[in-house]
Amino acid sequence: MDKKVTVVGAGNVGATAAQRLAEKELADVVLVDIVEGVPQGKALDLTEAAPIEKHDVSVTGVNGYEETAGSDVIIITAGIPRKPGMSRDDLLKTNAGIMANVTREVAKYSPDACIIVVSNPLDAMCHVAYQASGFPKNRVIGMAGVLDSARFRAFIAMELSVSVENIHAFVLGGHGDTMVPLPRYSTVAGVPITELMSPERIEALVKRTASGGAEIVSLLKTGSAYYAPASAAVEMAEAILKDKKKILPCAVMLEGQYGIKDLFIGVPVKLGAGGVEEIMEIRLTDEESAALHKSAAAVQSLVDAMAKL
Ligand code: NAI
Ligand code: 2OP
Repeated sequence: MDKKVTVVGAGNVGATAAQRLAEKELADVVLVDIVEGVPQGKALDLTEAAPIEKHDVSVTGVNGYEETAGSDVIIITAGIPRKPGMSRDDLLKTNAGIMANVTREVAKYSPDACIIVVSNPLDAMCHVAYQASGFPKNRVIGMAGVLDSARFRAFIAMELSVSVENIHAFVLGGHGDTMVPLPRYSTVAGVPITELMSPERIEALVKRTASGGAEIVSLLKTGSAYYAPASAAVEMAEAILKDKKKILPCAVMLEGQYGIKDLFIGVPVKLGAGGVEEIMEIRLTDEESAALHKSAAAVQSLVDAMAKL
């Protein structure tokens, strides 16, 4: 294939992302992990599925970075996931160290790549990747809004018994309890959900979305969600690899948009071959804007906490 994607972290999210990338024939995939044998074993397993799944991409598993050279997109999932009772923020110290090391390596071998950050706490990890890579801000992008919006879309579809394909939704803000689902901009076949559901039901779905990650953690008990997260990261990678100019909610470095500066936070952006090609400034009500600023303050406090580590 003429495109190459490196996935760092061959755990649940990373290996599932590698599978989706291969099955969609988007790129050759290099799967990297610190644990010897795991990326090699999972890559071989995926390679052996290829004749049945009918794809011709190469999937390679490694413990170093030489083979990642020249990647178009790097998806970073390395780190530790949440256990029951842990917040995403509890992961801060461990994952910040891992993110800095991993990013320096991938940036060295693929200086022109776009980085998609997945590890938590997501918005803070974007800051680490941005600083450690030295990449321009349009090539460091956090995955959270696509996942949070997909959860909101799934819950709306379940509530109204309609196809998920009819549903668009936007969830902005940080990837945490303060995330900002936007019912006004969430539609079923173009009709805002505010026309289709009672305020009480919308509020219930908004709350379920905001705690969507914790709901899965409490069920799995030994880790966090990975099917939908992998799908979300791969949707972003596909938009970049195919230069689709797709509008998706992503965590990006804001420089004054929405009145927020020098902070990664989730807003709608246009993703194409250049990474973030445009940050869309949609009109927010005073209440929505206040919620976004509250979420930004929560992200800022994590960034400040990281500076003191
Ligand atoms: P996992 O534990 O299954 O996989 C993580 C992998 O990273 C492990 O295989 C581990 O060996 C590897 N790893 C650790 N240190 C490494 C290093 N220095 N270099 C290379 N590999 C290293 O965890 P899972 O479920 O895949 O989650 C990964 C991360 O993604 C977690 O931080 C989790 O919280 C986050 N996450 C974020 C989401 C989002 O919406 N942004 C959604 C789901 C997960
Ligand atoms: C999620 O939202 C844990 O951030 C991860 O599922």
